[in-house]
Amino acid sequence: MRTPAESAPVDELWSLAIEVAREAGALARQRRSEGVEVAATKSTIADVVTEADREVEALIRRRLVEARPADGFLGEESGLADSPDTGEASEITWVVDPIDGTVNYLYGLPHYAVSIAAVRGRPDPREWEALVGVVVNPATQELFRAAAGRGAWLDDTRLAVSTPGEAGALIATGFGYDPATHDGDFARLRRVMPLARDIRRGGAASLDLAFVAAGRLDGYFERGLHAWDHAAGGLLVTEAGGRLGGMPGGAPGREMTIAAGAELFDRISDAVYR
Ligand code: IPD
Ligand code: CA
Repeated sequence: MRTPAESAPVDELWSLAIEVAREAGALARQRRSEGVEVAATKSTIADVVTEADREVEALIRRRLVEARPADGFLGEESGLADSPDTGEASEITWVVDPIDGTVNYLYGLPHYAVSIAAVRGRPDPREWEALVGVVVNPATQELFRAAAGRGAWLDDTRLAVSTPGEAGALIATGFGYDPATHDGDFARLRRVMPLARDIRRGGAASLDLAFVAAGRLDGYFERGLHAWDHAAGGLLVTEAGGRLGGMPGGAPGREMTIAAGAELFDRISDAVYR
């Protein structure tokens, strides 16, 4: 089987993702300092988008198309654009959340992120091979980066997932914007609770995953994520030695996303699917 390093320009994709994520993060931070308002609602009244989400995604898309016109693009705000049929289409698609943690962004909570991943294959987590992932929190200026076979990093520190001690695991989760799903989410959380020393709800899935990679959280689970929420953060977790999955034996996705070190991963999965 070919390895990513052999058949895709991983280093080129990685530097481009870092450069564009930094630029996009600076724009998001600038717009935040100027004041942010809701531009529209999406799936429910609580699921909001700001002008900054759209502007940041447009910037990311423009920069990626300029640098790599043959690649595809899947963004939270503008949807899927296949590789252009001018010239030869590449097998790479960029999967982008311009602002993950939009509600934190709206409220001025310094916990939101620009999330950029490049994947090979269709932009479906059941089929893709994640090649690079970058998650930047513009408020703290932290930049988490991973590339297939190259590890996960925060600045010069190589990241590794943690192993929880006797006091139990620090586990993050999240709840979708649709109140109809909350009872199910709370029932799953109740079953996971005996594993936990405490629970966190940070409000930005990409940072939850980056924090699992960095050992700042022991584990994470959430139902309802979209591809752009977990594409970059998921690679951070696996490159930090963790496990990433969804329903038993499946890929992360709308039904479920779980991330943790191997042993805790199994225990969370058992609790969620008991
Ligand atoms: C949301 C955040 C949140 C998670 C939601 C996501 P958005 O992304 O990642 O933590 O619980 O499921 O939709 O809407 O802020 O980009
Ligand atoms: Ca978003």
